[in-house]
Amino acid sequence: MNKVLSSLKFTSGQEIKNRFLLAPLTNCQSDDDGKLSEEEFKWLTMRSKGGFGLTMTCASHVQKIGRAFPGQMGIFSDDHINNLKRLTDEIRSNKSVSIIQLHHAGMKSPKKLIGETPVCPSDNESYNARALSISEVKILRDDFIKAAVRSKKAGFDGVELHGAHAYIICQFLSSKYNLRDDIYGGNSENRFRLVFEIIDGIRAECGNAFIIGVRLSPEGLENGINLKESKELAEKLMISGKIDFLDMSLWDVFKEPEEDQFKGKNLIEHFSELNRGETKLGVAGKIKTTKDILKAIEYVDWIMLGRAAILHHNFPILFKKYPNFKTIDTPVDHKYLIKEGLSKAFIDYLSIKFDEMVKNNY
Ligand SMILES: Cc1cc2nc3c(=O)[nH]c(=O)nc-3n(C[C@H](O)[C@H](O)[C@H](O)COP(=O)(O)O)c2cc1C
Repeated sequence: MNKVLSSLKFTSGQEIKNRFLLAPLTNCQSDDDGKLSEEEFKWLTMRSKGGFGLTMTCASHVQKIGRAFPGQMGIFSDDHINNLKRLTDEIRSNKSVSIIQLHHAGMKSPKKLIGETPVCPSDNESYNARALSISEVKILRDDFIKAAVRSKKAGFDGVELHGAHAYIICQFLSSKYNLRDDIYGGNSENRFRLVFEIIDGIRAECGNAFIIGVRLSPEGLENGINLKESKELAEKLMISGKIDFLDMSLWDVFKEPEEDQFKGKNLIEHFSELNRGETKLGVAGKIKTTKDILKAIEYVDWIMLGRAAILHHNFPILFKKYPNFKTIDTPVDHKYLIKEGLSKAFIDYLSIKFDEMVKNNY
């Protein structure tokens, strides 16, 4: 019980008061131009007040063309800074650390939403996406860095790079989607180049006290990632000393890998046995009960809650108060979700998202 309620210091020197992180959760509540709305402010600040040591925003796109959802929060323009400043001030006053997730959907940006052909490391017929030229890759890299600088101006304590779920950074990492024959494609070192260049650029521009985290997917045909390579990258990132935390998006932390050769150990064990250096490792995926938390925290430095935090804005407080706390049984009605600080737009999105998750066995 003590470990999860104890503080944790990142290499940047910043500290979180406990090991509970709010997962990045797309909620479709922002204004159409990407500005943070009152609804999204309420959703996030209720969680920071509810005891989360670290409050992370949803995926926020760094270029207009990288938008994935209606109502998605953006960080591609200085016009986004003002509303975000109010958010980070409030999160800080609730004694929580604020992190914005930097995102670009690449081939997964719907053409209908962005009004042009989506982009990808290489031409992709299934997504009707076109390959980026090498100068566009450099602009993409620089726009991630500029978005981090903007986030710092808005008062965020740091950023998380969304390198998971088959979005653009993951597309570059993947040997399935990245078929380039320049320095950003081919062998794993080249495919990993973009993420390292973004990290180096952010560190140079935002300084050593700024938190940098990276989120990765461990495996999956859809992500175009295999476990051998994701473990190789995870360890490379952690021992590089360049990032503060690594966030493994496992969807079910105690699940075994898909590939037969790696079965016999669950995903959390595969990553927790890697050399971490000073980097703090954490996981997300179906952590809902005190039992899950105590089991997961044995392996990693911190844990992240998504669906449990939707159901209970003050999960960390409830966990501290009730020794056997677990989330309320689902489904819950709309009135319950409204009381937990969700707007109609978020509730509507959740119904789509849950259908997708049931289909994909998450
Ligand atoms: C409604 C919803 C929105 C999500 N949005 C994001 C997102 O913006 N970025 C991201 O990296 N993951 C996103 N995820 C994945 C979550 O961050 C988390 O990894 C996943 O839900 C598993 O954790 P959980 O079982 O505690 O919910 C989303 C998940 C849900 C349910």
